[in-house]
Amino acid sequence: MTISLNGQVYVVTGAGRGIGRAIAIALAAAGAAVVVNDLQADIAQSTVDQIIAEGGQAAPAVAAIGTAQAAALCIDTAVTEFGRMDGMVANAGVLRDAILWKATDEDFDLVIHTHLRGAFTCGRAAAQYFRQGGLRGAGQGGVVMLVSSVAGQRGNPGQTAYSAAKAGVAALTRTWSMELSRSGVSVNAIVPTALTRMVATIPGLEDAVQAAERGAPIPERLRHDLGLGTAQDVAPLAVFLASEQGREITGQCIGIGGDRLSLWSHPQEVALCHHAGGWSAQSIARAWTTDLAAQRQSVGIGTKT
Ligand SMILES: NC(=O)c1ccc[n+]([C@@H]2O[C@H](COP(=O)([O-])OP(=O)(O)OC[C@H]3O[C@@H](n4cnc5c(N)ncnc54)[C@H](O)[C@@H]3O)[C@@H](O)[C@H]2O)c1
Repeated sequence: MTISLNGQVYVVTGAGRGIGRAIAIALAAAGAAVVVNDLQADIAQSTVDQIIAEGGQAAPAVAAIGTAQAAALCIDTAVTEFGRMDGMVANAGVLRDAILWKATDEDFDLVIHTHLRGAFTCGRAAAQYFRQGGLRGAGQGGVVMLVSSVAGQRGNPGQTAYSAAKAGVAALTRTWSMELSRSGVSVNAIVPTALTRMVATIPGLEDAVQAAERGAPIPERLRHDLGLGTAQDVAPLAVFLASEQGREITGQCIGIGGDRLSLWSHPQEVALCHHAGGWSAQSIARAWTTDLAAQRQSVGIGTKT
């Protein structure tokens, strides 16, 4: 089965390097014209150059994602350069890890601004474009891909702002999939794992990232067990979600990395009891022991029970 995105136009934010760059190149290889956003002009241009060298179509949109203006610039570039927009991949992100009691306001704000406000402003601008008539491509549905994280799904020590932002991104996915279903717009979150510069700061992964950057083979334990491969291993999920079959899927958080592909659950009540007239602290204490405790939930990456 060949997936052709010929005639389609995608915006990919944070596409100067890492996963965004791999997604932009893969979408272009499948036939889409791609607007390559990054806050760094040189690396945005280098992705554009590679796409064009491989026979594809691309244009840069240099801006720091997180504001309405940056989101508008990306969509304006798509419409001006290629006449329309079919999909938005809100991928741009930064890490500023610190244990809670050492986390600074500045780092918290930067991470929330880039990931959560970035997803919000890009998703809102895309929704406004997809819902309006008049412009070419508008009113015909569309695709929104957000990028969440295992840290956002499970929690991760040292990642206060990041896990909050990425949990927020999963929440946006659920809410927007409902709000936009009647407009024919699919909204899904990619939950990637990849040996990129972003994870090089995580203790124990620096050597693996350098090896992956050199093109050295990635040990099977990393690829199979931890889902840590290259950024290119993540990109096929974006191409699939842009395809005719993928556009039918909405409201999902889909994990990909190395040799792993997974579907995440959404939170739901796992134990429920009632107490006529409401609960006292004492009756909660009894119910905790009899009904809830057995269902208490684990937290953390790699922890299942
Ligand atoms: N690598 C992983 O294992 C992993 C895991 C979970 C989630 N993610 C998410 O995947 C996305 C891409 O991460 P990556 O690993 O490729 O990181 P990366 O650091 O390799 O690439 C991030 C890119 O985003 C750009 N960027 C940063 N802030 C920006 C802004 N405000 N506006 C525009 N561009 C900006 C950077 O310049 C860079 O090119 C991020 O949202 C990240 O949180 C990555």
